[in-house]
Amino acid sequence: MTSRAQPLLRGVRVAPSILSADFSRLGEEVAEVLDAGARIIHVDVMDGHFVPPITVGPLVVAGIAEQVQSAGAMLDVHLMIERPERHVAEFVKAGADSVTVHAEATPHVAYAASIVRESGACVGAAVNPGTPVEALAELASSIDVALCMTVNPGWGGQPFMAGSPQKVARLRAIVADEVALEVDGGIDVDTAPLCRASGASVFVAGSAIFASGEPGEAYRAIARSVGAE
Ligand code: DX5
Ligand code: ZN
Repeated sequence: MTSRAQPLLRGVRVAPSILSADFSRLGEEVAEVLDAGARIIHVDVMDGHFVPPITVGPLVVAGIAEQVQSAGAMLDVHLMIERPERHVAEFVKAGADSVTVHAEATPHVAYAASIVRESGACVGAAVNPGTPVEALAELASSIDVALCMTVNPGWGGQPFMAGSPQKVARLRAIVADEVALEVDGGIDVDTAPLCRASGASVFVAGSAIFASGEPGEAYRAIARSVGAE
């Protein structure tokens, strides 16, 4: 799994988040963005504890894994759950190519990251808007993805937080060059370039793509705005 994900994470990429997709036709929604060129599909897992909503689990990851991976794309699983280290194995078994854990979700984030590494998936670590980037400093050389939340996690469709580009720049300064810097929340054709200028390389977009009525076209517009592959 790592062999598929690592080259994809090295580039500038827009990652559609299925959180805002129509789940009654999830396969068609995913097909539209894959056909438009998306190679990272972002899956938001919420447990009703770390964040108030409950969303999807390994069954949905498994449901789209073959479609995504046979297109040469990867599944980027964003765990907004408490004690994520307890659930990594089941998501990787379901098809996750990368698994991101939150610094705030466990007292043992380095251990959680090591569990992801041992599973064979790429390792992501995330910080909420209220968490200083330094929370990832000790992990900076052992992760593949650093995720800077640009909204408070839990819901799609929230406005991009204005101070985020400066925070992205601070995070970029503490992680190694080869680490992908992902931004998530309120990303669209206006905010993605601001984050790109601050050093972000992976741009998660949910409502800007799937609530647009034209997911393929919306994907291409955001990709153009940041010069994504
Ligand atoms: C929010 C999730 C996001 C969400 C982003 O907690 O982590 O991935 O899908 O949605 P938009 O792009 O609508 O802000
Ligand atoms: Zn997310």
